[in-house]
Amino acid sequence: MRPKAFGATITARRESGIENKGKTLRILILMSLALLIAGCGDSSSTDPASSNAALTAPPVSTAPDGEGIYNKFCFSCHAAGVAGAPKLGDVEAWAPRIAQGMDVLMKHVVEGMPPGMPAKGLCNQCSNEELAASLDYMLDSLPKASDESEG
Ligand code: HEC
Repeated sequence: MRPKAFGATITARRESGIENKGKTLRILILMSLALLIAGCGDSSSTDPASSNAALTAPPVSTAPDGEGIYNKFCFSCHAAGVAGAPKLGDVEAWAPRIAQGMDVLMKHVVEGMPPGMPAKGLCNQCSNEELAASLDYMLDSLPKASDESEG
C-alpha cells in the first residue's frame, strides 16, 4: 500500500515538474524573442559615428605616479649618485642640468645620456608622461631656490 502511494506522488510531482518546465520554456522563448527584437532595434538605431567615437576614445588614464616610478627605476642610480648620476635633492648636481632647460632634460631621460644614463631610465614600458612625472618628482625634491636668497 505504502510504496504504491509513494510512487504515485512521485509521478504526480514529475508531471507537474514537466508542466512547469514547459511553461518556463515558453516564457524563455518569449523573453528571448523580445530580446532579439529589442536587440535589432538597438543596433539599427545606433549612430555609427557615436560607436566609432567609443572605439577610438582614449582609455581612461590615471595620473602617472612619478614617485612610484622613481622608487622603482630611477632610485637605483639617482639615490646614491651611481656613475655620476645627479642625486635626489642635490641642488649643486642638478643646477647645471636644470639650466639646460626642461626640453633637454626630458630628451636625456627619454633617449638616455651615454654612458651612464640609460634610455627611459630603464623603465622601458613607461610613457613619456610617466617619465616626465618621475623627473618632476626628482626636481620637486630639490630645496626651492627661494630658500637661499642669493644675487
Ligand atoms: C642605471 C643608472 C640610472 C638609472 C636607472 C636612471 N638614471 Fe638618470 N642618470 C644616470 C646617470 C649616470 C646620469 C648622469 C649622466 C651624465 O651626466 O653623463 C643621469 C642623468 C639624469 C638626468 C640629467 C640629464 C641631463 O641632461 O643632465 C636626468 C633628468 C635623469 N637622469 C633622470 C632619470 C629618470 C627620470 C630616471 C628614471 C625613470 C633615471 N634617470 C634613471 C643614471 C641613471
